Amino acid sequence: MKGAGAALRHDSALKHTTGEARFADDLAEAAGTLHAALVLSDVAHGTLLSLDTEAARAMPGVVAVLGPRDIPGANDIAAIGQAEPLFADPLVEFAGQPLALVVATTRDAALLGAAAVRAGITPLEPVLSIERALELDQHVVAPQTMARGDAARAIAAAPRRMEAEFRAGGQEHFYLEGQVAIASPGEDGEIAVVASTQHPSEVQHVVARVLGGACNGVTVTCRRMGGGFGGKESNASWVAAAAALAARHTGRPVKLRLARRADMIATGKRHPFLYRWTAGFDDQGRVLGLQALLAADGGWSLDMSGGVVFRAITHALNCCDVADVSVTGCAVKTNTVSHTAFRGFGGPQGALLMEDVVHRIAAACRLPPEEVRARNFLGAAGKGEETPYGQKVEGDLIARVWAEAKRDSDWDRRRGEIAAFNATHPTLRRGLGSMVLAFGISFGVMHLNQAGALVHVYSDGSIRLAHGGTEMGQGLFVKVAQVVCDVFGVDLDRIAITATSTAEVPNTAPTAASTGSDLNGWAAHNAAQTIKGRMAEVAARRFGIAVEAVVFADNRVWAEQAGGNRFLEFAELAKLCFLERVSLSSTGFYRTPDIHWDRATMRGEPFFYFSYGAAVSEVIVDTLTGEHRCLRTDIVQDCGRSLNPAVDRGQIEGAFVQGMGWLTCEELWWDGQGRLRTVGPSTYKIPGSRDVPPIFNVRLLEGAPARSETIFRSKAVGEPPVLLAISVANALKDAIGVPALDLPATPERVLMALRGDGEKIARD
Ligand code: MTE
Ligand code: HPA
Ligand code: MOS
Repeated sequence: MKGAGAALRHDSALKHTTGEARFADDLAEAAGTLHAALVLSDVAHGTLLSLDTEAARAMPGVVAVLGPRDIPGANDIAAIGQAEPLFADPLVEFAGQPLALVVATTRDAALLGAAAVRAGITPLEPVLSIERALELDQHVVAPQTMARGDAARAIAAAPRRMEAEFRAGGQEHFYLEGQVAIASPGEDGEIAVVASTQHPSEVQHVVARVLGGACNGVTVTCRRMGGGFGGKESNASWVAAAAALAARHTGRPVKLRLARRADMIATGKRHPFLYRWTAGFDDQGRVLGLQALLAADGGWSLDMSGGVVFRAITHALNCCDVADVSVTGCAVKTNTVSHTAFRGFGGPQGALLMEDVVHRIAAACRLPPEEVRARNFLGAAGKGEETPYGQKVEGDLIARVWAEAKRDSDWDRRRGEIAAFNATHPTLRRGLGSMVLAFGISFGVMHLNQAGALVHVYSDGSIRLAHGGTEMGQGLFVKVAQVVCDVFGVDLDRIAITATSTAEVPNTAPTAASTGSDLNGWAAHNAAQTIKGRMAEVAARRFGIAVEAVVFADNRVWAEQAGGNRFLEFAELAKLCFLERVSLSSTGFYRTPDIHWDRATMRGEPFFYFSYGAAVSEVIVDTLTGEHRCLRTDIVQDCGRSLNPAVDRGQIEGAFVQGMGWLTCEELWWDGQGRLRTVGPSTYKIPGSRDVPPIFNVRLLEGAPARSETIFRSKAVGEPPVLLAISVANALKDAIGVPALDLPATPERVLMALRGDGEKIARD
């Protein structure tokens, strides 16, 4: 029996590698299926005066051209709050905004039709930078401040002061499978949608809203995504709504699969950030007071920027403590695509603040940044163990992950070795950098911290598992199945893992915030536990023993107290339950207990617990070209008592490399008119297999199970290790001898820094 804690492979691992795993676009098309393509604006800001669709309509294969006037319900795809139009009407707010949809008998015909639509747009002045939007005071999330003590006074009273500004870029999700949805009309206005989505319930709501119907007429399913990374939390909804609109109009199934270019232009990315801060500190590098502004580029609409700003603010001090602090966060409104969830959801951007503070102050004090960071750790001497918003953090685990990463990486010896290398090599520079993280787990939006499951045991003893979580490659389905195995004491091969469906589990949260296994694991546990209780009663009667004495293990049900080895096969008992007319089906529900947040005071305990981790990375930089390689990374990551160490290891490696991409090679570039010009892999460089550190030691922290009541004492893992990639950026600073770098630290930026465009670290 391999339940919780077993290092099992991903349930679809073989199918992924052989190509047998079916993604939305692999499903056999129903007879009469039509294909849709979007007409996108190439103007960043303006008023749409006319849409000339005549040429498109006359093209072979084109069946319909649909715009805002064709929407039977609301032209509104917003996840929360203000209306966000599916099709611009008449205000155009970014280059790439959908204007209309062309439906045709083939995908090529639809794409050609879309290219033939002419939009008449009167241009308006676009706002394309965070600075300009700040000047104009235009926000999608108004500035909000988390404060404790008196930062201004503490800074004024400190022995030393510093002011700085820096920036971090956004990031394209670059999921392997792009956005796709297939909508099929049924009887009585029903619609069935297959979508690549992290949030089937929101797809359901948005489709119902756009079609002007009720949720019970819309069924959304998703077996798996070829990656989501946050990019399919809200953006999947409007793609599905467009397909559903076309299905409603034509009465035929419609597939909308975005081409990579359209996907990159029209869907949101990680928020770019601008940072401005002032700190007061002492000669030992202790930060005594800190005031900071974190300004995210929200893009043209709200989307989930409120949650991203919340997470950036609450993670701005990361694993450190500053007694007197004031952190203001906002998301400005610009004429760019609406930025959205991306692995870490503002947490990585928040953590960059304290790393910048630590590294600049360390340079000023002529101290190693690791020393300065450790002196400011939550729980360090003279420091508190509570975040500024009032939540307790486990300082002992912060100190422990750092001590272990330092030891694993052989830090002291390699420092010496690197110094010797750098002293002699004419052009190459090596550098060592580190990162320590404390990442809060739970959705910042409190009501999303809930999950449901539906478990059936059939009379042959086989089990069918459904829950509200979605599979995007992260291994959620196998982990939740392992939980159910554990409850019933059966092997994994008894459990059928099924597609997520709004018809089976309603009103779900997105699979996001790394909470998938925490929430759905408990919900499935609770469903299985209910059935197990009923089965135990039947077994107890049969054995003539107390219910408490019945034990489920090794695919059997045992009469533990009876002595000997009396048992029923699990399947036998299932059959018995059926004959005795006992229900073998149950829903299960879970809500995260004890979390709360007061928006007015910006205080509370919004996270069920924290995840901790530390990393050390070494880079080598070519000072002639600015290029670098990461040579080695050592990671210690806290996963509590891991539900599946094999899957968790994969998550840590993947998150780290994805974070490395964000910070070193992935650069989004918009031209002067606000048009994104990095629209494919030739101009947008994601990390490749050769960028994975050749020495990559990933270890799960041992013997530190979650202290909160998490499912089998496990901890979330999906997002926190993204922050560990900051160790690579820190190693680059070390190699080239600068305290700060704007990110991503592309070869160009590194070269500029080497040529002395920035401050240098004084070396004694
Ligand atoms: N891993 C893979 N392979 N593909 C993904 O799309 N998304 C990440 C992370 N790991 C992702 C991934 C993000 S953004 C989140 S929030 C979590 O997985 C969501 O899943 P979980 O809550 O089950 O960890
Ligand atoms: N993470 C991801 N998605 C979310 C969150 C979060 O914290 N809150 C609301 N949606
Ligand atoms: Mo992950 S950014 O919370 O989908």
